Amino acid sequence: MTTSDAPLLAVHALTRRFGGLTAVDQVSLAVAPGTVHAIIGPNGAGKTTLLDLMTGFTKPDSGRVEFAGKDITGTRPHRLPAMGLARTFQSARLVHTLTVRENVMLGAYRFTRARFLSDGLRLPRTRREERASAGRADELLAFLELEQFADTPAADVPAGAQRLVEVARGLATGPDLLLLDEPAAGLDDTETADLAAALHAVRAGGISLVVIEHNMELVMTVSDRVTVLDAGKVIADGAPHEVQANPDVIAAYLGVKP
Ligand SMILES: Nc1ncnc2c1ncn2[C@@H]1O[C@H](COP(=O)(O)OP(=O)(O)O)[C@@H](O)[C@H]1O
Ligand SMILES: [Mg+2]
Repeated sequence: MTTSDAPLLAVHALTRRFGGLTAVDQVSLAVAPGTVHAIIGPNGAGKTTLLDLMTGFTKPDSGRVEFAGKDITGTRPHRLPAMGLARTFQSARLVHTLTVRENVMLGAYRFTRARFLSDGLRLPRTRREERASAGRADELLAFLELEQFADTPAADVPAGAQRLVEVARGLATGPDLLLLDEPAAGLDDTETADLAAALHAVRAGGISLVVIEHNMELVMTVSDRVTVLDAGKVIADGAPHEVQANPDVIAAYLGVKP
């Protein structure tokens, strides 16, 4: 990649306050196309708030978000999948009574519906699209090695597989960029390794990823670049090995100041 590549996602001096607390404080970062960009930091550092700001779930007090060269600051979250931006949540938001396949289809449905509304009422096409989205869901489930769970209610699937189903649902929207909030939360070592393999495969498929993560080993394994937040501010930004050796980062993780 060359330095002239325009970022896929860029945030400029984003700030978000909750009462007297500045949860995200003048944060700027750029996600290069075709990369995995990790955002790490201690609990309460502002990671989820930053992701909420990037995806329209929270409005900034100041600053700007650009995606694929467009200003998307304040764009409503439901509009973003159709623009190529999708996310997952820190606590899994699967519909437990629906099967895994149906959950993944919901991702595609949101995308279809956005187009459907803009295209006007075309019902036969909608039915065709529904069949297509079932096929697409099965492809994604195969891609993430989840086929065996396709007809299982989401509630009955192991925790690790549930996180991967969320990834599949995000992918079903056809994103250029997928943002994942702590995808490895609650996973054992084997499940985390499966997740890492899945993230590598997604990236190899040309989809960029922003991964908020606590698990340092996973961050080191999957990311091209790492931004470290502490108390709402960026304290380091660079290649994983650079960031890992940074004294401010070590101090933030150990909870002591140098
Ligand atoms: N809706 C909210 N109202 C008030 N405070 C919030 C809200 N969301 C987050 N915060 C606070 O903002 C800070 C950053 O939270 P968060 O972004 O969830 O951090 P992280 O994801 O890094 O653990 C925390 O102190 C948290 O308590
Ligand atoms: Mg969080």
